[in-house]
Amino acid sequence: MEYWTARKTGDWRPGELPPGWPGATEDSDLSPTDSLELAGLEPGRELRGTGRPTTGGGHLAEHGDGSLIDMNDGPQTRYRVRGGNPLQGTVFVQGAKNAALKMIAASLLAEKGRTVLRNVPVIEDVRRAVELAQALGAVVKFHEAERTLVVDASELTSSVLPAEIARRFRASVLFVPALLHRLGEATIEGVGGCNLGSRNLDFHYRGFARLGARVDEHEDRIHITAGHMRGAHLYLDTPSHTGTENLIMAASLAPGTTVIDNCALEPEVLDVIAFLSKMGARISGGGTGFVTVQGVGELTAVEHTVMADRIDAAVFAMAAAMAGGEVTLVGASLDDFGVVRWKLEQMGVEFATHGAILQVRRDRQLRPINVITSPFPGFATDLQSPIMAVSCLAEGTSYIRETIFDGRYSLVGELNKMGGKVEIDGTAVLVHGPCALRGTEVIAHDLRTGIALVLAGLAAEGETVVSPGYLIDRGHASVASRLATLGADVTAEISD
Ligand code: EPU
Repeated sequence: MEYWTARKTGDWRPGELPPGWPGATEDSDLSPTDSLELAGLEPGRELRGTGRPTTGGGHLAEHGDGSLIDMNDGPQTRYRVRGGNPLQGTVFVQGAKNAALKMIAASLLAEKGRTVLRNVPVIEDVRRAVELAQALGAVVKFHEAERTLVVDASELTSSVLPAEIARRFRASVLFVPALLHRLGEATIEGVGGCNLGSRNLDFHYRGFARLGARVDEHEDRIHITAGHMRGAHLYLDTPSHTGTENLIMAASLAPGTTVIDNCALEPEVLDVIAFLSKMGARISGGGTGFVTVQGVGELTAVEHTVMADRIDAAVFAMAAAMAGGEVTLVGASLDDFGVVRWKLEQMGVEFATHGAILQVRRDRQLRPINVITSPFPGFATDLQSPIMAVSCLAEGTSYIRETIFDGRYSLVGELNKMGGKVEIDGTAVLVHGPCALRGTEVIAHDLRTGIALVLAGLAAEGETVVSPGYLIDRGHASVASRLATLGADVTAEISD
């Protein structure tokens, strides 16, 4: 087994910016600027859903996926992390959340038979997607111990995505294509924006309209009528991950040819395309940024194994970086890490692959890093918070800039509560390491800040308490037990 060391692959020197590294000027405007008229929609109205409460007041929190949860609902989980233990051992990477959610929605496109999805992560978001599919009339059974989901969508009974789920679960919009093709209409009740900044769903609605659907926005809901949907030329202003998948799903059963410009390249998108292709969809160009879909008459139920979750894998790699030691990740693919792999190597983390096994080692002082998030294969926005936590241990100043979601720096204040020396500098964050982290009570503002705080806790002196743990559970399965398997002192505590 040969490790690729940072010495071989990087020429990074602490505290320096690489030559030509951009400053803190904003280089991308992710706000859509297109006219709704182009899509046949009424101009002057933004199709970003209805307004919704913010996280203020302590009643609502937001998942990293953009959905809201009522923090006063049901039992509260919090994670207790006592730092200081190096990690050693083997951990299993979960199935990919951001592929499984789309596949659950896509399985409702099949009018006959039963879809079997394997390696489905046992996380709260999947449970919400199951509830939503059931609310529409699908018979869904999630065999959690087997991580297997069985969907029978032969009878859909409702075209309404109910507010109590849709408002809390942004991925609800993924169920629209199945409803349009199966029932001729879809109503999304209470869909709102989210606190990851100016993130909305206009690409989805515009795409449906270009395919021939009629989109009407009402005060408290969005109603979409299929009409005569047919293939069309679609585009995305930016390569939206879910937008790409949703428009491919919508085009799969629309007669004629659809081409979609500026598609996302994320590995999960390719896995969703593989799943749809097994169902009978005719899709080409996946991974090129330019996808063509030939509409077919029907899609059939199939069996599929969800790919490994690259974000979950990278989080465990970063746990090793944080705590030191050596961990073996079963099912992780280094290729799916994209730029994340090179950044961790530059910091001094070593990787070695052995088939589908990935070993990660950190046995030296970490070096600082420069990170700018961008769509795959760029540095994943979902790992921006975790790498910020890791940067606290690096000797020198790290530079981190988020370009996908403009509200994703809520970790800064929490790390500083733990003794971090982290500052927001214009549109970037500077982490002045090394920081002596101390355990304290911290708030998970979303899924990814939550898991980043657990990572910070691994390297902190004393006890770190992260809540609400529910946000972490929405995206990572059995975090406490998997980290404990590696020797970390982490427990999930449930209180009423
Ligand atoms: N955008 C629009 N209009 C749209 C769609 C997107 O303006 O109609 C903008 C957003 O505001 C954002 C950017 O485009 O600034 C990228 O959004 P994208 O659509 O790519 O994100 P997403 O598909 O909604 C998925 C993941 C996210 C992940 C992003 C980026 C799922 C369910 N969610 O979101 O995952 O951060 O892609 O890779 O696939 C997470 O897992 O914690 C999470 C947030």
